[in-house]
Amino acid sequence: FRYALVLVPTVLFASSALADCDPGEMVIKFSHVTNADNHPKGIAADLLMQRVNDEMDGQACMEVYPASALYTDDQVFEAMLQGDVQLAAPSLSKFEPFTRVFRIFDLPFLFEDIAAVDAFQMSETGQAMMTSMTGRGLRGLAFWHNGMKQMSANVPLITPADAEGLKFRIQASDVLTAQIDAMGATSQPTAFSEVYGALQTGIVDGQENTWSNIYGQDILQFQDGVTETNHGIIDYLVVTSEEWWQGLDPEMRTQLATIIQEVTETRNAEAFAVNEEARQAILASGETIRQLTPAQRQAWVDTMLPVWDQFVDDIGQENIDAAQAINA
Ligand code: LMR
Repeated sequence: FRYALVLVPTVLFASSALADCDPGEMVIKFSHVTNADNHPKGIAADLLMQRVNDEMDGQACMEVYPASALYTDDQVFEAMLQGDVQLAAPSLSKFEPFTRVFRIFDLPFLFEDIAAVDAFQMSETGQAMMTSMTGRGLRGLAFWHNGMKQMSANVPLITPADAEGLKFRIQASDVLTAQIDAMGATSQPTAFSEVYGALQTGIVDGQENTWSNIYGQDILQFQDGVTETNHGIIDYLVVTSEEWWQGLDPEMRTQLATIIQEVTETRNAEAFAVNEEARQAILASGETIRQLTPAQRQAWVDTMLPVWDQFVDDIGQENIDAAQAINA
């Protein structure tokens, strides 16, 4: 196994990566969109690969394709349902075509931190959500953490009014569209691999993401600093095709599920630290990180909170209540 190099054309490295698996081994391709290094998902995917290739040697062989080298998040679901890729970990926002309940994870200012997200996911409600898409052919295997989202633009953002009239890159999600609308700004759903170019060419003025994604994509090169809003979250579902999963030899399935579980526990415990490192690296590179006073932060809360009302019916008030109870 080996990493796919970002600059090598897909077809070339796909075949050379395959060549590293031994004949007779079942190939498990894991496609994702972020950096491999210095990133909660990239590190977790690589640890998973390492463990599968050590512990299931001779039976299974995992290949990880980071940085959208194989598929964007838009493409990966179809590829998975067709059996061209076995694992992915798209952000929870990306599941919108499959479930509306996941919209809860995009609600601004719902979860206070990733510990609250974790507690919600571990609850009965959260665990039921994980496997709620089997009827659509997708099986969730684990939630992986990234972190809290921060906001940036090519002008300083202190209050939501500073964002008026600007265009923000968002992940394709109706909740995020509504959130940007509430700021008096417009939004442009864009694949993660296109964010750098969209900012560089001025197609968009701003964006929201976690420290590790902002750092990893070198986003601040085109921004006037970043504002520490912690207004939302980016988290992931490790997902596979239900058909592929049920077709696995039962012993292999159990072993793979156990490895995924253990990697999840190990790396979720480190997700916060990985984002803190990225935040420190951003500071060290001389970029401005704007912190908000409680009153300034409240202005963002007041602007964004009405968004919840638009999605209560999709999400279920009882689920929102359960998430809020965890913060308390
Ligand atoms: C994004 O599109 O901004 C994120 O979902 C990317 C990621 O996987 O963290």
